[in-house]
Amino acid sequence: MSVKDDVLSQLEKNRGQHISGEELAESLNVSRNSVWKAIKQLEKLGYSIAAVTNKGYCLLESNEIISKQSIENYLIEKNVSIETYKTVSSTNSLMKEKAEDSAPEWTVIVADEQTSGRGRMGRSFYSPPNTGIYMSVLLRPQLPANQSIYITTCAAVAVAKAIDNNAGVEAKIKWVNDIFLGNKKVCGILTEGTTDIENGELKYVVLGIGINIFPPDEKFPEEIKDVATTVFAEAMHDKDYRSKIIADVINNLMEMYPELSKKEFFNEYKNRSFLLGKRINIIRKDGVEEAKALDLDESFGLIVEKMNGSLEHLYSGEVSVCRVV
Ligand code: BTN
Repeated sequence: MSVKDDVLSQLEKNRGQHISGEELAESLNVSRNSVWKAIKQLEKLGYSIAAVTNKGYCLLESNEIISKQSIENYLIEKNVSIETYKTVSSTNSLMKEKAEDSAPEWTVIVADEQTSGRGRMGRSFYSPPNTGIYMSVLLRPQLPANQSIYITTCAAVAVAKAIDNNAGVEAKIKWVNDIFLGNKKVCGILTEGTTDIENGELKYVVLGIGINIFPPDEKFPEEIKDVATTVFAEAMHDKDYRSKIIADVINNLMEMYPELSKKEFFNEYKNRSFLLGKRINIIRKDGVEEAKALDLDESFGLIVEKMNGSLEHLYSGEVSVCRVV
């Protein structure tokens, strides 16, 4: 790491508090002049740092730049390799390249903006700058490919808990893995991976998570404005909400991941269900079928009752809630 990165790390650890140039220089084993140069570099990058005689430097609470250091500040386990970018095409696409290039498990890519954010079913994911979280986590689970739904559902629980924890709301999960606040979508998850044909296990999984945190500067585009929402109703600049939520998602994932096959998060997933008890439309290739969402089976299949009274377990695909007229 460079002196700039080390200084940023110290400033992040002491966010909102002053730390003297001398202290910084001593703890990093560099000269005070190097510290001063690092501060100037950070200011150039957009960080607001107060410098007060006899007190030192203070990273203002309002700094919202997402960095490795700002996220690490809130991580419980430190064995995560974080890379942050201002703009990428898609964090999932970038991560897939890294996965093929042998990047280790728990590599995390976070971008402030995506120019070609991807969603499920070939859709795009609106990813404007400064207001959202666009992150991909690389996992190399020892899990049969037919249990990959555990990763997706575990991620949905991890995100829902992180949102609740930071915004004091009650996030719901719309099967399989969209996160809803009220009747609108606040987060989408795109899980991509490859399977080892020899043993039927997953080679790697790229877990892509997109969360709308603050209303976008330019408002949501027409096609999603009625169905999308944000964690916070307005932009909040009093602290680094996005870094904190990213870290909480990782912390939650790391807690559940080692025992994934035990599905200990099943009840939490079910309790957060947005669909159970509601009338839904099952969207199939050959048309739409109406049904009622009754329950979840132990493989996270959605048990639905169709109009003719028969039951069906859905394991993939898309459903929407019927509009009440
Ligand atoms: C969906 O709602 O259909 C899933 C959206 C997933 C979006 C995230 S943002 C980070 C990662 N990179 C992508 O290109 N997509 C996922």
